[in-house]
Amino acid sequence: MTPSPVVAAITGTGLWNAPDVITNDELVASFNEYVELENTRNAAAISRGEAVALEPSNVEFIEKASGIRQRYVLDRRGVVDPTRMRPYFAPRPNEEMSLQVEIALGAARDALAMARREAADIDLVIIACANMQRAYPAMAIELQQALGASGYAYDMNVACSSATFGIEQAANAIRAGTSRAALVVSPEITSAHLDWRDRDSHFIFGDVCTAVVVEDAAKAKVSERFDILGTKLATKFSNNIRNNAGFLGRCEEVDRNAHDQLFVQEGRKVFKEVCPMVVEHIGGHLTQLGIEPHSVARYWLHQANLNMNLFITRKLLGADPGPERAPVILDEYANTASAGSIIAFHRNREGLAAGDIGVICSFGAGYSIGCVVVRRVQ
Ligand code: COA
Repeated sequence: MTPSPVVAAITGTGLWNAPDVITNDELVASFNEYVELENTRNAAAISRGEAVALEPSNVEFIEKASGIRQRYVLDRRGVVDPTRMRPYFAPRPNEEMSLQVEIALGAARDALAMARREAADIDLVIIACANMQRAYPAMAIELQQALGASGYAYDMNVACSSATFGIEQAANAIRAGTSRAALVVSPEITSAHLDWRDRDSHFIFGDVCTAVVVEDAAKAKVSERFDILGTKLATKFSNNIRNNAGFLGRCEEVDRNAHDQLFVQEGRKVFKEVCPMVVEHIGGHLTQLGIEPHSVARYWLHQANLNMNLFITRKLLGADPGPERAPVILDEYANTASAGSIIAFHRNREGLAAGDIGVICSFGAGYSIGCVVVRRVQ
């Protein structure tokens, strides 16, 4: 008799929240103070026509264009200081735990507790996020040791789709038998790669960390779990979201604070190009699995822009999904890169019955799209 195929399941999720909050009012007040300081400093060049005056930001634009109302950050003080406009992080000696691993530990322990797993049960740790604190050794290997996990660990980066791509790698490892139980952790310290001096994007990001436990459904310790029915990933090269920071910078004599060394995007183009790709991607994946978009009980979408999510779900369903069916967390968290759809999933998994289908979908730089279709099991 052929053995039945291994089904990978999500049995636990965890969330670490950054300690500080910045509301849109506070953010815009400090940005506009920075603009005044800069325009005063450059007044002579501006009046000679040699420099362009910076324009102020405003709360109404931010809320209408994005749906974002506030963000959590690791260090508020440095961000809202108009003479600094970036967080303060103290350098740590090699003997001390890295900042990214410290926040990863919080989310990882939460996820393990939900899955009723000990760290020693985990034999694959993936750190999947948009920016790594260093080149090597892998952040994931430091986390593996800090947790007391066994097996192997590695880092991966597919920008805003890192977490869903990581879930596919974990599910594949479970199905192939190279891992018994895996942890996918996304410590997103976006405040360090956001140009808080850039009017077009200063309101976009927030800090957070999420974690997901993926294991063999048949061996799960918890009855309440989400079986992974399928994963589908896609990428298409685009320069419309880009960050040029990298190890060649030292040789290229770049200024680490230069705009292109931080997050840069053509937001309008991203909106126009990515939305139809996501509709086609989710629709195509559901068709492959024999599932109607209408029969999906919950869409946990990437959290970059409320209007984007409304566009996508309206196209898929032909109607407004409502906040219960397509939960929104970006009003509170802003865009948290790859962690966004996982926060939405973690915070909005109640009210589903056994057998209900859900879609976790991320999209972002690359371009990259990652879709994970799950079924609630009780
Ligand atoms: N305050 C006030 N006005 C602002 C502003 C600010 N902070 N930033 C831009 N504006 C102005 C612009 O100057 C422009 O003015 P104009 O019409 O006189 O030229 C106007 O607002 C519209 O700018 P635009 O950039 O076209 O806004 P938008 O409606 O496209 O919204 C985003 C901007 C970034 C919110 C939106 O494009 C978006 O979210 N795109 C997708 C981003 C995404 O998902 N990225 C993935 C990242 S992981």
